[in-house]
Amino acid sequence: MTSPHLSADGVEAAKLAALEAISTAPDLEALKEVKINHVGDKSPVAKFSQELGSLDASARAEFGKIVGQAKSAIATAFEARSKVLEAQRDERVLIEERVDVSIPARRTPAGGLHPLTILTNEICDLFLGMGYRVAEGPELEAEWLNFDALNIPADHPARTMQDTFFIEPLDSHLVLRTHTSPVQVRTMLQEEPPIYVICPGRTYRADELDATHTPVFSQVEGLVIDKGITMADLKGTLDHFARSIFGPDVKTRLRSSFFPFTEPSAEVDFFFNGRWIEWGGCGMVNPKVLRAAGIDPDVYSGFAFGMGLERTLMVRHGITDMHDIVEGDIRFAQGFGTGGR
Ligand code: DAH
Repeated sequence: MTSPHLSADGVEAAKLAALEAISTAPDLEALKEVKINHVGDKSPVAKFSQELGSLDASARAEFGKIVGQAKSAIATAFEARSKVLEAQRDERVLIEERVDVSIPARRTPAGGLHPLTILTNEICDLFLGMGYRVAEGPELEAEWLNFDALNIPADHPARTMQDTFFIEPLDSHLVLRTHTSPVQVRTMLQEEPPIYVICPGRTYRADELDATHTPVFSQVEGLVIDKGITMADLKGTLDHFARSIFGPDVKTRLRSSFFPFTEPSAEVDFFFNGRWIEWGGCGMVNPKVLRAAGIDPDVYSGFAFGMGLERTLMVRHGITDMHDIVEGDIRFAQGFGTGGR
């Protein structure tokens, strides 16, 4: 294609053609095309501009002015049209892409912690704050650790088929742990005193699920082994524990009891909402248990305690049916402010 020769008429014609194309461009898309044909480097005016270089000085001055004016008229018109078309586009987008803020949102409920997990964390935090460590053990446990090492003899009623889930083959001597107390033994076997541990975990007993029982439940076990530990340390620890879980005014009491792994043993109750409520078992670790775990009872003494977490949660929150805790209905967890919302 040969470009028109540089002349005043030629520049005028190119300018008019450009202004016409600019003013009739219907939208920004069309205006882009107009830019290429009439405004950009390949447009007639741009070519005239390039030709200026081959002119002599006086012609260059004369045509330079003409071309310059044409270019600036085109640029001004182009800018103005761009603004108009952009405004039109923005207006259209606002209408076409309008967001209806009144449409109900689609929500993906955020997950939440189960209330039992919240309570477990709370208890662990409390004891961590007192310098304890969290210890855990397996739910499938050696019969020896679940019973024998805790001084629970072979003919103890807790060991019979009614209470304990034994694992086949029976000569594997594995059980689903019936309490978290075997974690005491595991800890004592692994560590040298001083020992300060809190052991939360899931436990199993052959019970029917009803309003107050569940075959899969949770306990928390505490164990302290050190020099000169007495029952006063146990009582003070339980008081602090109870107050932090149930409120600052809560009182505890120890009632004489029996557990094979503690001597003396006690039942711990707390006074809450006008009545005494049984909470769990406790006592001074039986020297036989210390010896089974390789700790010298002439040098060290210790206390232990263990309680059910479902029961703790039920009392604290006035939950009357165990089904609510185990069935996993999210509306129950929501009541604790943790379920999906
Ligand atoms: N293991 C006992 C149970 O499940 C509870 C218990 C009693 C734990 C006394 C202890 C304790 O550590 O000292 O019934």
